[in-house]
Amino acid sequence: MTTATVPFIPDNAPFSTEQRAWLNGFLAGLFSQAPAQQPAPSPALSLTVLYATQGGTAERLAKKVAKELKAKGHTTELFSLEDMPPATLADKEHALILASTYGEGDPPDACRRFADAMSAPDAPRMEKLRYSVFALGDHSYEHFCKFGVDLDERLAALGAERLMPRVESGVDVDAPFDQWKSSLSSRLAERVAGSSGKSAPASMVATATSAVAPGVGAAKIEPLHTRDHPFLAPLRARTPLTSGHSSKVTMHLAFDIEDAQIEYAAGDSCGVVPTNDPVLVADILEALAFDAGASIALPKVGEVSMEQALLHHLQPTRLTRKIVQAFASKSGSKTLTALLPAEQSAHLESFMYDRGLIDLLLEYPGLITEPAEIAAMLPRLSPRLYSISSSPAAHGREVHTTVAVVRYKAHGRERGGICSTLLADRTGVGARLPIYIQANPKFRIPENNHTPIIMVGPGTGIAPFRSFLYERRALGASGKNWLFFGERSASTDFLYCEELRAMAADGHLTRLDTAFSRDQEHKIYVQDRMLERGAELWHWLGEGAVFYVCGDASRMAKDVDAALHTVVEQHGGMDRDAAREYISQLHDEHRYHRDVY
Ligand SMILES: Cc1cc2nc3c(=O)[nH]c(=O)nc-3n(C[C@H](O)[C@H](O)[C@H](O)COP(=O)(O)OP(=O)(O)OC[C@H]3O[C@@H](n4cnc5c(N)ncnc54)[C@H](O)[C@@H]3O)c2cc1C
Ligand SMILES: Cc1cc2nc3c(=O)[nH]c(=O)nc-3n(C[C@H](O)[C@H](O)[C@H](O)COP(=O)(O)O)c2cc1C
Repeated sequence: MTTATVPFIPDNAPFSTEQRAWLNGFLAGLFSQAPAQQPAPSPALSLTVLYATQGGTAERLAKKVAKELKAKGHTTELFSLEDMPPATLADKEHALILASTYGEGDPPDACRRFADAMSAPDAPRMEKLRYSVFALGDHSYEHFCKFGVDLDERLAALGAERLMPRVESGVDVDAPFDQWKSSLSSRLAERVAGSSGKSAPASMVATATSAVAPGVGAAKIEPLHTRDHPFLAPLRARTPLTSGHSSKVTMHLAFDIEDAQIEYAAGDSCGVVPTNDPVLVADILEALAFDAGASIALPKVGEVSMEQALLHHLQPTRLTRKIVQAFASKSGSKTLTALLPAEQSAHLESFMYDRGLIDLLLEYPGLITEPAEIAAMLPRLSPRLYSISSSPAAHGREVHTTVAVVRYKAHGRERGGICSTLLADRTGVGARLPIYIQANPKFRIPENNHTPIIMVGPGTGIAPFRSFLYERRALGASGKNWLFFGERSASTDFLYCEELRAMAADGHLTRLDTAFSRDQEHKIYVQDRMLERGAELWHWLGEGAVFYVCGDASRMAKDVDAALHTVVEQHGGMDRDAAREYISQLHDEHRYHRDVY
């Protein structure tokens, strides 16, 4: 038998000590997969692995679980839910579904047609199907994991049988994913044993998970810098994009990635791992009457000082239902208790919107006596995403972002968003910040350089479209480019004004339509401009244009979607249902993309 040697990264390779150690560990793990030489056991169950994703996490995990189950001897197939009509799903035996949630508890855009068909009264019965759902979400959203939850419940209502209870995961997916896979593996092994009357092969019993499943081909190397292993990028430049008279501040930032193993594509986002404002942290410690050095135990982190926990690991600026609940039960406050019933969720939302932990600590002093209570109550501080506004082809080893600084006064206190004020106020040019790339594989310029594109990007929604425009120019793409941009006032808030005007003047930007809401008596928004230019917009769609939207999810994206429906109705001569079908087709043909937040 030949012995495989484990390759290693030499000391003179262009990696930091930490990167080299990580890579060597990765390679050691990869090459220690001894069973790779052994034949897989004969197929046992036929498994359909499905994912609903926007950012790629659910897809990545789905591929992983499919590989691992295949290596255990099962037959697996892998699909996005967008390619799985409910009638086809109803014919499957076993479905393992990894589903992320977007918008306000919605499915990822690409899976909306599937979700609509599933909730329709004539959705097919699913009695033949056995399934399990792994729901991906983020605890900081009110509708945590809602699409996964709804899907799980709908499948059960349609007669499908749960293989095991659904697992819901926050942004730290690793532990819940391992838990789901492990329970699933045992459950599937039981089913094999049950159906054959034999005990399950050892390979089907839950085992510790490995980076690469045995016997299933080469591993794809994951990006080196992730939210858990960010790159410390020097901030090379920061310039205001709004003028001093504007009611808000938006900044252009450039990070230097010269020394980083970082690649990105136009359309991706940049994750920034933030640190809380030390002034707010000091206020919280004072209100708690805790010593800054008091020890606190945090899951996955271990023992750290209270000050370190509040600076780097916990999220004190956004209240959650759990925090309000904890203060309500400790204080017995009628005001807080009245916010908790489900029918009061709108009031709870507006109560939480402009308050943070500090407000509850000051209003209800002395209730929190142990650091452990803080650890149990506060969510983990999560990275913030910013759509990248540079182009890899045009801007070399730089990552640009376009950041609106969150500042407001509420309940007698000046407040700031954690990350946007870190970027605007607390990081000097030349200082380093931990960043990573969050791929956004659905949000890409067309592969065909001749395809026209229509981009609707008001406010910071301009960011990925600046990237698209530079990228298309650098690639020599001849397809037409149309941008709708909007803000409050042309004189103070026209982001990247000179660059965009220059691109319009030289024809790279075929059309530039702007909507400055406060420059006239009646408010005008990008969706109004779309309606005004409806005939031409319809003409571009007829030429095969791809339609993109980026920016505010709560109102703008919905209004733009409604305007698009109106344009299709009015200029395509369709009734409401036909227009809806036409726009569903745009989604299906990957010609309608949204990156909204
Ligand atoms: C995919 C994606 C792409 C994004 N791209 C961009 C981008 O290109 N540019 C960009 O600027 N942002 C972008 N964002 C948003 C960004 O990630 C952050 O959410 C944003 O910068 C705020 O983070 P923060 O830490 O500064 O604020 P936080 O500390 O998270 O505080 C925000 C909270 O403050 C409260 N709040 C905010 N404003 C007010 C107000 N006026 N009055 C009362 N309360 C208020 C709300 O509760 C809000 O949830 C993107 C988000 C996503 C998910
Ligand atoms: C714009 C946006 C909206 C989101 N809305 C929700 C939400 O309503 N509920 C939730 O639980 N998670 C929400 N999330 C979190 C995602 O579901 C979570 O990050 C998930 O891991 C993404 O998976 P994906 O990479 O497969 O798309 C949202 C994320 C983004 C970027």
